[in-house]
Formats: sequence, structure tokens, C-alpha cells
Amino acid sequence: MAKIIDGKMISQQIKDELKEKAAKLKEQGKTGALAVIQVGEDPASSVYVRNKKNACAYIGIESLAYELPNETTEAELLALIDELNGKSQVKGILVQLPLPGHISEDAVIRAISPKKDVDGFHPQSVGAMTIGEPGFLSCTPAGIIQLLKRSGVEIAGKHCVIIGRSNIVGKPMALLMLRENATVTITHSKTSNLQEICRQADILIVAMGRPQFIGAEYVKEGAVVIDVGIHRDANKKLCGDVKYTEVEPIASAITPVPGGVGPMTIAMLMNNCVQSIEEG
Ligand code: GUN
Repeated sequence: MAKIIDGKMISQQIKDELKEKAAKLKEQGKTGALAVIQVGEDPASSVYVRNKKNACAYIGIESLAYELPNETTEAELLALIDELNGKSQVKGILVQLPLPGHISEDAVIRAISPKKDVDGFHPQSVGAMTIGEPGFLSCTPAGIIQLLKRSGVEIAGKHCVIIGRSNIVGKPMALLMLRENATVTITHSKTSNLQEICRQADILIVAMGRPQFIGAEYVKEGAVVIDVGIHRDANKKLCGDVKYTEVEPIASAITPVPGGVGPMTIAMLMNNCVQSIEEG
């Protein structure tokens, strides 16, 4: 029987700590707002954006919502970012991805001031993380580190295998695990002996984006399994990249979907916002 890593509970703990910290900062006259920009009406994005605004309200940070039509041009979006970069009260700028096809995500990410890059996606933020300098950390990987630490999982010296090499999860995850002194292997869609490598993992982090792909045959007895995937199965129920019922009896600890990694992303976004307010 695996220990269930409760992301809902841990994210709540973090949000309560941040609420207290934000209140203390307010007493010192340190406040600030998060600007949340959504272009178009992608339903999943609308849910994420609403959750982010609700989290700000809970913690006591102002949020400024910019809901722009799908036809917004790249130039218009870049002009808005430029304006927000110049507003001292705006401490964080978040542009919800994905963007409509006519807008370059890369150009938008680069336009956000690294001082306000609470998503941690700007190349300067990524570079700072790579060499261990201060800067905003990418929220999902930072949330996974918190899940592991707050669940008492030892990271140093452990072999961590990551499935997936995206800029948002896989690559930054590898760097953060390395920073925690894990031995890290990154695997991806072209890896030829995936099962064999995964079976060597003490900590297996699955961010491949394929519903219920990882079964018991990929998991070593006693491994810690972190599932970053989120999908709907044939019955419209939420599920991850891992076959939970099959893997749970083998693992020593595992994250459920929902209620595992998901809630941590927003908690770490709030952490970045409070950090930005603190740094002024
Ligand atoms: N779309 C999916 N995940 C994210 C995220 O963490 N940040 C932003 N800005 N967009 C996303």
C-alpha cells in the first residue's frame, strides 16, 4: 500500500502560509497585484484563470483580469504587456497559454519583465534556475519539489527518472531535482528502452501527456511515483499518465489525479507572487 501524496492538503498548507506572509507584508506597506491575461475563450484556460484569480483573493493579493478577444493581435498583446511592465503596483504578469495560433508564445514570454515573470517561463528565469541564481521557478516543477519534501521523501542521492522533456515541466524538473542532489535521467518519446530505465527509478516523474500509459511494468517496487498528467478517460473521469490502481500497490508513495500535482501549480504561482511583492 502506497502512501498517498495529498497535493490538495499540501497546497492548502502552502496557501495558508502565504496568506499569513502577504498580511505581514501588507503591514509593512508592501502590496501588489497579479495581472492575468487570457486571449480567447478556451474552456480549460478559463477554468485555470478563474482558479488563479480565486487563489489571489484567498491569499489577499489583488488580481487584475484582462480577458481579450481571440482576434487580439500580437502587437496589441505586446503593448499591454509593455504597459503592465511599467506599472509599479503590478508585481506579476501571467499570460495564460496556449495562445491563439497567430500569436507567438515565445515573443510574449520574452516580453514579460523577468522581475514580473511569476510563471518562470522567461529565458532569463530559466537561465537563472539552471545556474542556481535567484529568480522565479517554474510552478509545476517547484510544486513537485514541495510535494516530495513535505511528504518526507528523501531526494539526495536518489535516481530520479523523468518522462517528458517539455520546457514547462520535464526540463525544469530535471534541473530542480539536480539542485536537490538527485541523479537525474530524462526520457522522452524517442527513448528506446523506456521501461528498463523507468524500472531503475527511485523517484519516477511522469509528464508524457498520454492517458494511463505507465503501468506496473514500468515501476520498481517501493518507488515514489509522481503523475503530472491530467486527462479525461472514456467515462469522462479525470485520470493521469499513470495506471493508478495498478501502480499504487507497488509504489511506496504516489500522487493521485486529481488532487496530486495539479493544486500545487497554483500554490507555487502564489508563492512567486508573494516573493515578487516581498522583493518590491
Ligand atoms: N497553461 C497551462 N499551464 C500553464 C501555466 O502554468 N502557466 C500559463 N501561463 N499557462 C499555462
